[in-house]
Amino acid sequence: MLLETKNLKKRFKTGLMKKKQAVVLSKINLIFRKGETTGIVGESGAGKTTLGLMLAGLIKPDKGQILFKGKNTDSMTKEEKKECRRQIQVVFQHPESTFNPKWKMKQSFLEPFKIHRIPFSEKIILKHLSCVGLNTEILNRYPSQLSGGELQRIAISRVMSLNPAIIILDEPTSMLDNITQAQIIRLLEKIQKQKGVSYLFISHDPDLVRLFCKRIYELNRGKLNMR
Ligand SMILES: Nc1ncnc2c1ncn2[C@@H]1O[C@H](COP(=O)(O)OP(=O)(O)O)[C@@H](O)[C@H]1O
Ligand SMILES: [Mg+2]
Repeated sequence: MLLETKNLKKRFKTGLMKKKQAVVLSKINLIFRKGETTGIVGESGAGKTTLGLMLAGLIKPDKGQILFKGKNTDSMTKEEKKECRRQIQVVFQHPESTFNPKWKMKQSFLEPFKIHRIPFSEKIILKHLSCVGLNTEILNRYPSQLSGGELQRIAISRVMSLNPAIIILDEPTSMLDNITQAQIIRLLEKIQKQKGVSYLFISHDPDLVRLFCKRIYELNRGKLNMR
């Protein structure tokens, strides 16, 4: 098992004075096997992004456990946690807020290489970008000078440069037009065939999830059920 959760619960403090609490997710049990594409479908506000962020280790659950390759992420050493963070990557819904608007794309693209001390050269960058159908010239631009589709291609290329085991795709195409959406889905399928990476595909669109995913969970009012 690649990733597994046991009874995850998450609540947020709400209200102007932060005195109320809203339970966003409760008793979340999911299993996620290697090489698969698993879907999570649910309406807007169902808690999909919150769940994705918890699985990626970017926010903490209030209760429950997340196991990566059988090991509880809570009892991992600092080194193991960093490795886990490398292996579980996220592509976010809003390509325009994924990247620092004040940085040229080159700086954003190279950041993970630096954080994880992965060697890079012009040849390596070229290889990564050509894999998503882009050339290196694009890295001299600012995010506002790229289309949504181009930004998502760079976001995908950037996470792939870390050679992750899992990519959490949080509505990666919902801000794109239909043609660009189809191109990005085809690109994701090609990458999966080549690299064997697993996807957790999050979407509000049941048709898209059915098209793309073998196993599907439905998130409804904070509860997760197999479809
Ligand atoms: N940091 C936060 N503080 C308070 N409430 C939040 C926070 N993040 C999300 N929420 C609330 O949790 C619920 C689920 O949000 P989210 O996970 O973004 O849903 P989805 O991605 O399915 O649209 C929403 O009601 C949202 O307003
Ligand atoms: Mg969301």
